[in-house]
Amino acid sequence: MGPQGVNYVIWQFVLTIVIVIFFVPKLSSAKQSKLMGLNMNMIDRCWRPNSEWRRQRQQIVTCSIDYVGKMTNNIGKDLIQYEVTDPNDDPINPKLGTLRYRASVIRGKVWITFQKDMNIRLNKPLLISSFTTIDGRGVNIHIANNACLMIFKTTNIIIHSIRIHHCKAQAPGMVMGPNGKVIHLGPIDGDAIRLVTASKIWIDHNTLNDCEDGLLDVTRGSSNVTISNNWFREQDKVMLLGHDDGYVRDKNMKVTVVYNHFGPNCNQRMPRIRHGYTHVANNLYLGLMQYAIGGSMGPSLKSEANLFIAPKVGSKEITWRQNGQTNGDKWEFHSVRDAFENGASFEVTNGGRVPKPNYSKDEYFQVVDVKSVRSLTRSSGALQCSRTSLC
Ligand SMILES: *[C@@H]1O[C@H](CO)[C@@H](O)[C@H](O)[C@H]1NC(C)=O
Ligand SMILES: *[C@@H]1O[C@H](CO)[C@@H](O)[C@H](O)[C@H]1NC(C)=O
Repeated sequence: MGPQGVNYVIWQFVLTIVIVIFFVPKLSSAKQSKLMGLNMNMIDRCWRPNSEWRRQRQQIVTCSIDYVGKMTNNIGKDLIQYEVTDPNDDPINPKLGTLRYRASVIRGKVWITFQKDMNIRLNKPLLISSFTTIDGRGVNIHIANNACLMIFKTTNIIIHSIRIHHCKAQAPGMVMGPNGKVIHLGPIDGDAIRLVTASKIWIDHNTLNDCEDGLLDVTRGSSNVTISNNWFREQDKVMLLGHDDGYVRDKNMKVTVVYNHFGPNCNQRMPRIRHGYTHVANNLYLGLMQYAIGGSMGPSLKSEANLFIAPKVGSKEITWRQNGQTNGDKWEFHSVRDAFENGASFEVTNGGRVPKPNYSKDEYFQVVDVKSVRSLTRSSGALQCSRTSLC
């Protein structure tokens, strides 16, 4: 064999390897996302490498983790698929084709998608029925400049890839409630998403900013909530978990805050916790001004493998305790494997055991080393999905 022949053999060999690497079917998603040069987190890795995601949107119900568990209650043979075609909003008599028509009126399982990019200005808060998925992947959906979302006494809801911003306080008034009953709604603060006595709620890949009150409130006995992959920015009060100091039912509240990006210009409450238990893991904090995580009424916090970057000038302390409440009888603020830059500091509870989240098998996820947090949160917020390929 001459030198040409040797080259030929080597070339054949290389080609075979290339074919094996790229064309062997059923590569695991983890391998596929690595091949695409993306370091994806556990939720994204479950569906984003699938080029058929548009036709298999419901795959995401198996991708949720942590306290929300899997969202398999949201699909099934009785599922109604509904496309929003009309950005207008009538709070009392919603028209077919509008978001409110399906989100509030129809009972049962509904999967809502959008025909095209839309700016939706709601005239009253949108009350979302149980077993509703609002899926903005593939288009740019803004819910902005007036009333925003409210999850009131309902369960099994997914909010995915929506931009919610410039939400304003609302005067009392009549509105179509969940399951098609017109109800009287009292005055509402200007929050982007407000949960009231809600459970099993998954808030994933949304961009929330610039609201009059807060971005996300979890209140009045709400529980089993996962807040993942969101981008919170430009806000004073970011996230409130637990209604008020007197509302002891929130002792049972369990919330996971994972893979989110906070900043720029977030001032406080990322989150502010009352009574309940919160696992805050693998988040990127680029925005704290006053503080990042605070609370009152003896909340339990496991802060794990987050990257906290303090501002160059201003507060360096991550935590805050109302009225200086410190290690009162049941107060637990623990930091495990967190990383701190620019002199950020974290005042932990002395002694005691780090409260375990006790996730079930469906809920469990492996918290990764803080070194990966920047790359795992890189695509936080509403996703830009190209028309032709991956999301
Ligand atoms: C939360 O989930 C747990 C475990 O599935 C369940 O026992 C509990 O009742 C749920 N809480 C609420 C408020 O739905
Ligand atoms: C997890 O279980 C341990 C042991 O039973 C308990 O002390 C702890 O409070 C539990 N954690 C939560 C968040 O309920």
